[in-house]
Formats: sequence, C-alpha cells, structure tokens
Amino acid sequence: MGDTVRIVEVGPRDGLQNEKTSVSVADRIAFIEALIAAGLHTVEVGAFVSPKAIPQMVGSAEVLRGVIGHAGNEFHVLVPNEKGYEASQAAGAKVIAVFAAASEGFSRANINCTVAESIERFKPVLSRAKADGIRVRGYISCVLGCPYDGEIKPQAVVDVAKTLWELGCYEISLGDTIGVGTPLKARQLLRAVAGTVPMQNLAMHFHDTYGQALANLYAGMEEGCRVIDSAAGGLGGCPYAPGATGNVATEDVVYMLEGMGIATGVDMAKLVAATNTISKLIGRPPVSRVAAALNAKARAH
Ligand code: HMG
Ligand code: MG
Repeated sequence: MGDTVRIVEVGPRDGLQNEKTSVSVADRIAFIEALIAAGLHTVEVGAFVSPKAIPQMVGSAEVLRGVIGHAGNEFHVLVPNEKGYEASQAAGAKVIAVFAAASEGFSRANINCTVAESIERFKPVLSRAKADGIRVRGYISCVLGCPYDGEIKPQAVVDVAKTLWELGCYEISLGDTIGVGTPLKARQLLRAVAGTVPMQNLAMHFHDTYGQALANLYAGMEEGCRVIDSAAGGLGGCPYAPGATGNVATEDVVYMLEGMGIATGVDMAKLVAATNTISKLIGRPPVSRVAAALNAKARAH
C-alpha cells in the first residue's frame, strides 16, 4: 500500500474525557509533551465544552496554552458553539473541531440539539473561523451505528458530511463512536462519503468496542483513506455512548502501518512509555495489545 498516513492523536481529549479519574492540567501537558516526543505531531488536546457535560476537560485552555509553544506541531480542540469558539480563541487555538452526528438520538444526548440545529450552531463558528484564519475539522459521530437509533444508513452520513464540507471544514472525521462497524461496512461508507467529499479530506475515527477497529482501518485504507485518529494506549470513549470503549490504540495502528512498510515517524518505545505513565495516573493498564505485548516483553528481560 506504500505512501504515508497522517495520525491524529486524540488521547488527551477523547482518551481522557470519559475517565472516572480527572487528570490534572500539569499531567495532561506532560502527556501531550510525551506524545510529541514520541513523534506524534497532530494532537487533540482538549475541549471547550460545558464543564457540567464533561468535567474531565475543564482546564483545556491552560492545557492548550501549556503546549502551544511547541512549534511544528498541530493542536486541535473541540468546539460545540460560539461560546466554545471564543474560549478557544482566547487560548490561542489555531485548529478547532466541530462535532455533529449522523443520528438524531446521539445528537440529542451528546449536544442537546437536533442534527439540523447543530449545523445552525456551527455556521457562525465556521464563518468566524474563516475570517480569523482558523482551520476547522468536522466530526460526524455514529457513522456505523448509534447507541440510541441503531443502524445508520450511509446516506445519513453523506448528507452531514456534505453540509460540513460545504460550510468549510478542511477534513471530515468519520466516527464509529460505539465501535460496532465491520470492514465491508466501513469500506462501503468511505466509498459513499468520498462521492461527496474527496477521499484525501476524510479521516477514520474508529472506536474498538468490538475489536474491529484495525480491520476497519485497513479496509478504509484499501479504499484510499490516509488519515487515522487514534489514542495512545487505546484510551477513550464518550459518556453519551454507553458501553463503548476506547479509540483504536495508536500503538496498534503504528505497529500495523510499520508492518505494511508505511513509516510513521513514531518512536514506539517512547509512545509506550507515555501510555504507561498516563495509565498509572488513571489507574488501569493500557488496552492496547501492542503496548501490553511490549510491556510483557520488557518485564521478561
Ligand atoms: P446546552 O445545555 O444545550 O447549552 O448544552 P446551553 O447553551 O443551554 O448552555 C447550558 C450551560 O452550558 C450554560 O451554563 C452555558 O454557559 C454552558 P449555565 O448557565 O448552566 O451555568 N455552556 C458552555 N460552557 C462552556 N463551554 C461551552 C459552553 N456552551 C454552553 N462551549 C452543549 C449544549 C453543546 C454546550 C453541551 O451539551 C456540551 O458541552 N456537550 C459536550 C458534549 C461532549 O463534549 N461530548 C464528547 C465529545 S464528542 C465525542 O466524543 C465524539 C467524537 O470523539 C467522535 C466519535 O467518536 O464519534 C468527537
Ligand atoms: Mg471518539
């Protein structure tokens, strides 16, 4: 398959937003710095959302301010509305992400509005971002299934992707929020959305609840997609996606890509060290199979 893949490391945001133990601002900054040192240069570092909804992301402004001086890296933050946009700009964000859903049930649970209403909220964010020279990524959740509405038709995803793309998002990240997708469905979805948004502007954001994420990524790569969201250690989940587990683990993605001859520039030992540190802080071992294997190997020596 050759060529390159861009990894968007979402551990500090998606990875930590659903943990029972809130991680301090200083420890989140140290985690992000460890990820950068491991060679991950695009990192989602926080969210400017309601502190009542996601208390774990309180302090995102301090986190962003703490890392933004590391030149040559791209730091992303979630923004659900104009209030979040203003906070993100006060903290110096250069790349933000709005987040919509392909299903009404998840939209209501996650951001307390319909899909159409969420688009109306994003419009002023996108127009202000354009005027301010800020790049906007667009997420779509529940692209392969919804915890509330069940099966999702690819056309529902295509419709939201088209809207976000036309509003000016530079990239659309397709979220299998509850990790129910399987490879052929992932492939069909990518093909359907690529009929509207160029494949080079699509990203795969797959959670690994049913252990299908790597297979789904491979299928999406065969379709031509080259942007992968992942979280160190396989951290992650969304409080509004009951039962869903973490994102596909960055270690597992890197291992697969390197095995395919695709250089990632990631130093696996440093990445596993970053994962081990954050795992100790949240009090549970990494779910990444590669991290677990390398840790076991290290213990055996
Ligand atoms: P709402 O209650 O409808 O909003 O929530 P509201 O405008 O009526 O405001 C209610 C309160 O929230 C007010 O405070 C506002 O000031 C405050 P109060 O007067 O009650 O003290 N508020 C805010 N505070 C801080 N920052 C803001 C903000 N906006 C309002 N930006 C809202 C709507 C969207 C705000 C809320 O539902 C929310 O914050 N939801 C966030 C949910 C979230 O972060 N979910 C996880 C991220 S999405 C995800 O994980 C999926 C993804 O990974 C992809 C995938 O896997 O599929 C991206
Ligand atoms: Mg997610």
